[in-house]
Amino acid sequence: MAQLWGGRFKGKTDDLVYAFNASINFDKRLYRQDIEGSKAHVKMLEAQKVLSSDDARSILNGLDGILDDIEKGKLEITSEYEDIHSFVEAVLTERIGDAGKRLHTGRSRNDQVALDMKLYIRDEIDQITDCLKELLETVLKLMEDHIDTFMPGFTHLQKAQPVTLAHHMGAYFEMFKRDVTRLRDTRVRLNECPLGSGALAGTTYPLDREFTSELLGFERATANSMDSVSDRDYLIEFLSDLSLIMMHLSRLSEEIIIWNSNEYRFVEIDDAYSTGSSIMPQKKNPDIAELTRGKCGRVYGDLMSLLTVMKGIPLAYDKDIQEDKEAAFDAIDTVMGCIQLTSGMLKTMKFNTEVMKISAMKGFTNATDVADYLVTRGVPFRDAHGFVGQIVLYCIEHDKAIEDMTMDEFRAICPEFKEDIYSAISLEACVERRCTKGAPGIDPMKEEIRQSRKFLNSISDK
Ligand code: ARG
Repeated sequence: MAQLWGGRFKGKTDDLVYAFNASINFDKRLYRQDIEGSKAHVKMLEAQKVLSSDDARSILNGLDGILDDIEKGKLEITSEYEDIHSFVEAVLTERIGDAGKRLHTGRSRNDQVALDMKLYIRDEIDQITDCLKELLETVLKLMEDHIDTFMPGFTHLQKAQPVTLAHHMGAYFEMFKRDVTRLRDTRVRLNECPLGSGALAGTTYPLDREFTSELLGFERATANSMDSVSDRDYLIEFLSDLSLIMMHLSRLSEEIIIWNSNEYRFVEIDDAYSTGSSIMPQKKNPDIAELTRGKCGRVYGDLMSLLTVMKGIPLAYDKDIQEDKEAAFDAIDTVMGCIQLTSGMLKTMKFNTEVMKISAMKGFTNATDVADYLVTRGVPFRDAHGFVGQIVLYCIEHDKAIEDMTMDEFRAICPEFKEDIYSAISLEACVERRCTKGAPGIDPMKEEIRQSRKFLNSISDK
């Protein structure tokens, strides 16, 4: 048990209280950011002549040594210390002596942890963006490969109109693209540096906050020190970005589960991404998609948890805020895993294009096109809709598809039908004639793919 604040206390902390209060078991993952922030703080203290160059040099070397040893596995972060901040300071002092005790001059753990979390989330945004980039690449490849793979488009999970697999996947490209730009927006808003805000009211030392802000790659130093130490808006925004990513992954998972079902057979998930049953030997289950759908609830929970933690926080810092970490870390790990697994599952999944095509031809998916045909023959759309309704009823009663009707059958319902009705309502024609922007026809689809590729190329690494 090692604490930074023992001076004011006579009695020893109760063991349960110590364990309840400590955060080292989870905030140890902030060690890199904690050391990076401390190094910037020390460089600034030296430039402002608050620290001597000798002390600054020995602290910087000490911090580099600690980082190196942690990364090489030579120094273990143990729960002997309350949190990562205490750990780094204690090890530093143990290693370099008195200079180590000067590190915390003009700083509080409140602005320190606010900084560490911002640095950490910034890095994670970059990593999650990389994962999304990979997923977008996978989706785009499917779009390019399946520009003429026909399938039924659904509304209410009822067959509606024919589309292509490229078009269907294009919808997911748009969702994940918005996820990338949403993370980018969050990153811009969070990129103000809280370091130098002290416990809540700044400090009496002549700190140069813009100097540290620049060293750490922030846009500027935050404006109000009380807000700086108690603001977790950016984390809530970030968790809401992650919730939307999970919602999109969950919708895709749901579709994959349906497509992979014995009844649909649109796809077959690769063995590497499927699991079996302990009792039913024939089973090959889509567990990864199901787990992704399930874990969506978990990330929503993380968002709700932080929103609830923050709603009653009087200014400035209160210990409740420590609860931000486990929620954020859990959501990050979950989202990262789910994106990577979804990419892998999509890449290895087999699409039964013939089954999809046959399915697109059944279920009257060309009914709207029959009505549109009558409109070109001068029939008002509402009347055409009524005629086609009669045609569908007739076909259901006679167990046939619209394109299997004879010319006489067509004309008995509406005399405007001519021989060219057959070519007008073929599957190919139904898709091909949908050429408005964003529709599944070849030309708009090629343009959509071009724009998607352009977006993907534009995602910079930072
Ligand atoms: N472990 C704390 C957190 O995560 C660090 C800040 C502690 N500050 C304090 N005044 N107790 O929020």
